[in-house]
Amino acid sequence: MDKLIIKGGGPLSGEIRISGSKNSALPILAATILADSPIQIGNLPHLNDVTTMLALLRSMGLAITLNEKMTVEIDANTIKEYTAPYELVKTMRASILVLGPMLARYGEANVSFPGGCAIGSRPVDIHLRGLEAMGAIIEVDEGYIRARSNGRLKGASIFMDTVTVGGTENLLMAAVLAEGRTTLQNAAREPEIVDLANCLVAMGAKIEGIGTDTLIVDGVESLHGCHYKVMPDRIETGTFLAAAAATRGRVKLKDTSPGLLEAVLVKLEEAGAVITSGDDWIALDMEGRRPKAVSLKTAPYPAFPTDMQAQFTAMNAVAEGTGTVVETIFENRLIQIHELNRMGAKITLEGNTAVVTGVERLNAAPVMATDLRASASLVIAALVADGDTVVDRIYHIDRGYECIEEKLQMLGVNIRRVPG
Ligand code: EPZ
Repeated sequence: MDKLIIKGGGPLSGEIRISGSKNSALPILAATILADSPIQIGNLPHLNDVTTMLALLRSMGLAITLNEKMTVEIDANTIKEYTAPYELVKTMRASILVLGPMLARYGEANVSFPGGCAIGSRPVDIHLRGLEAMGAIIEVDEGYIRARSNGRLKGASIFMDTVTVGGTENLLMAAVLAEGRTTLQNAAREPEIVDLANCLVAMGAKIEGIGTDTLIVDGVESLHGCHYKVMPDRIETGTFLAAAAATRGRVKLKDTSPGLLEAVLVKLEEAGAVITSGDDWIALDMEGRRPKAVSLKTAPYPAFPTDMQAQFTAMNAVAEGTGTVVETIFENRLIQIHELNRMGAKITLEGNTAVVTGVERLNAAPVMATDLRASASLVIAALVADGDTVVDRIYHIDRGYECIEEKLQMLGVNIRRVPG
């Protein structure tokens, strides 16, 4: 297993480009199943999860051509298999996103039941109940979700009792080809859902309420191909900003969008950062100052994202003062604090609340990544630690951060990857 060796040092400084959004790319790739003519998706990030989603679509028989600029052309008409096998689902839970589109277009889908993972139990009951409300017959057999429909799915009025990103995406992708009107209430409003909905509209879908918690979908008989460009990755953006703040640095991030992460920018300003931005760039300058600790609570968009919690916990670990971090989305997502404490952080855990008292510097230590964003927090901690930190199990980081070491090198970091 590859490791990263990071020498803690001075402030991050420089300019980098932000990649396309992983969590937009995955549902949009799943949505290509719905198109009855070839579709091109651009600005895909070069990440393991994207490769896994393409491998899944290919294993089902879709014809896929990927060019060197990470634009993919997909023809779904060559589909032969309606199955997402265990081998792929176990490496990427987001494989569940093919369930809605396969069922909507072909009336059949078999998807290995995704289990829990390091950050929590992560059930998919809301996905399944919503599809059943649209007329699907669903059984769970030998670890597989086996879903069928007699003819087209039927529009339905669905209230999701928890705000779920993947659930909203799956049901939206099912609804666009269903017969009649579907109303999705208490829908997630994350920018990735807006991106998926915009792509579906470009394919000919009829969706109202995009960006709100009520999506109204009038099903159409077929969808066509289009050319769609995935939006910038707001979590990669936020991660580099938090890293710059923790190191008292100054960075400019290009090809991103400030409107995607207001809650994060507000907290960075509270930490003492000077933020400037244009349509497609964000700059952060700590003017050499140590960040001030911030308190935050994760919640569905537009509130503070759970996917940025670990990185802010790491920033708080070296900030001035004490910050309280409350995680409300996933029950086990403060797990990284134990590794941070091994590096000299002062963090205590009470239920779903981490109380972080900042220290001046951390100390390098061998640490191990447990999930994607937790590993990002360890990288941030390594940047502000004395000595060489070895971050193990970085396959987690490669799932969500394109060219992490090249980008950090461009910002002046002494970092290298060693094959394990
Ligand atoms: C998406 O996961 C993201 N993944 C996650 O990003 C992100 O952390 C999460 O949304 C929350 O923003 C992708 O987009 C591929 P949820 P998802 O369904 O869709 C509960 C990263 O680091 N729930 O919104 O799986 C669930 O247990 C990743 O990039 C049910 O109870 O998350 C959780 O407590 C990790 N029943 C809450 O809802 C359901 O049927 C939110 O989960 C579905 C979810």
